[in-house]
Amino acid sequence: MKNINAIITGVAGYVPDYVLNNDELSRMVDTNDEWIVTRTGIKERRLLVEEGLGTSYMARKAAKLLLKKTGVDPDSIDAVIVATTTPDYPHPSTASIVLGKLELKNAFAFDFAAACCGFMYALDVASNMIQSGRHKRIIVIGADKMSAITDYEDRATCPLFGDGAGAVLVEGTEEENIGLIDSYHRTDGKGLPFLHVKAGGSVFPASHYSVDHRMHYTYQEGRFVFRYAVNAMGDDCEELLKRNHLTMDDVDYVIPHQANLRIIEAVAKRIGAPMEKVLVNIQRYGNTSAACMPLVLWDFEKTLKKGDNIILTGFGAGFVNGAAYLRWAYDGAQQVQQSRS
Ligand code: UT7
Repeated sequence: MKNINAIITGVAGYVPDYVLNNDELSRMVDTNDEWIVTRTGIKERRLLVEEGLGTSYMARKAAKLLLKKTGVDPDSIDAVIVATTTPDYPHPSTASIVLGKLELKNAFAFDFAAACCGFMYALDVASNMIQSGRHKRIIVIGADKMSAITDYEDRATCPLFGDGAGAVLVEGTEEENIGLIDSYHRTDGKGLPFLHVKAGGSVFPASHYSVDHRMHYTYQEGRFVFRYAVNAMGDDCEELLKRNHLTMDDVDYVIPHQANLRIIEAVAKRIGAPMEKVLVNIQRYGNTSAACMPLVLWDFEKTLKKGDNIILTGFGAGFVNGAAYLRWAYDGAQQVQQSRS
């Protein structure tokens, strides 16, 4: 039997309609457009403001569009994985809600918790599931409603985050040297004090105290996280490039986690990637956590060509970090055109 490789065969995304721009944010906290743009690169972010809607709403929108674009039979989907740090509920899983709304009859579903690396790690797991031969079609979604855990009275964090979802279809092929070729992922549990949400989990369940003390929002030590991110992503990319005998000349695109444009530029400089090769949409969406990478794939799909060498790299709460080497499997421009006709 030939080896099976796991390839992405379609991409879709969803961002909410509501745009929170820097000017509006400046009326909510003591900040201004110039500070936010020069320190982060973010100009605006999308927020899911409608009451009663959570992460599964965005995930389902992205997955529905993915099914429509790719034209696959929903009954042929084997699994749905939703990478998220902002699930609808502690249980059931957000993925099971998405599966239910999409009326998938032959799939199983589960959530994947790895903060901002959730999509990249989930893609690794889905690829291994496909390569095992036991599963044929998996929808991998990165989705986060970061506004649900963002303190809009804290100017140090509220400019950074936004809401959104991106979805990819992962399938198998016997074609060689294509799809997810390699990954180098690492997790450092010492990251907890520097980046976390204090309450709402099993250690500190919600209480009057936790609400009064604003403990349900993302807390971070920005400067420390910044330095860690640059070093970790730089190291991960270098290791991945080295062990795959690649130089930056061989790489067509780098897709970094979209947390801060200065972090992205520092990583690019460290690994010798010219910014023309680095795909960035942070200015429009901010940091959407697990949704960042698939939203970049969605935004830039039409520029991707079959055989393009792509390096994904990310970091986040944990700390989680890593890099993945992907050989793109289809001509994006063609598929975008087909899906519109
Ligand atoms: O995926 C999640 C992972 N998290 C991250 O990637 C975040 C990583 N860290 C960062 O992106 C940056 O550290 C921040 C964007 C969060 C902050 O940028 P910074 O250049 O590290 O600024 P800073 O925290 O060192 O603050 C510099 C100054 C401070 O004033 P003083 O003490 O110098 O007078 C802050 O009080 O900027 C002030 N400041 C602001 N001023 C205007 C902090 N936030 C704001 C703001 N508007 N929104």
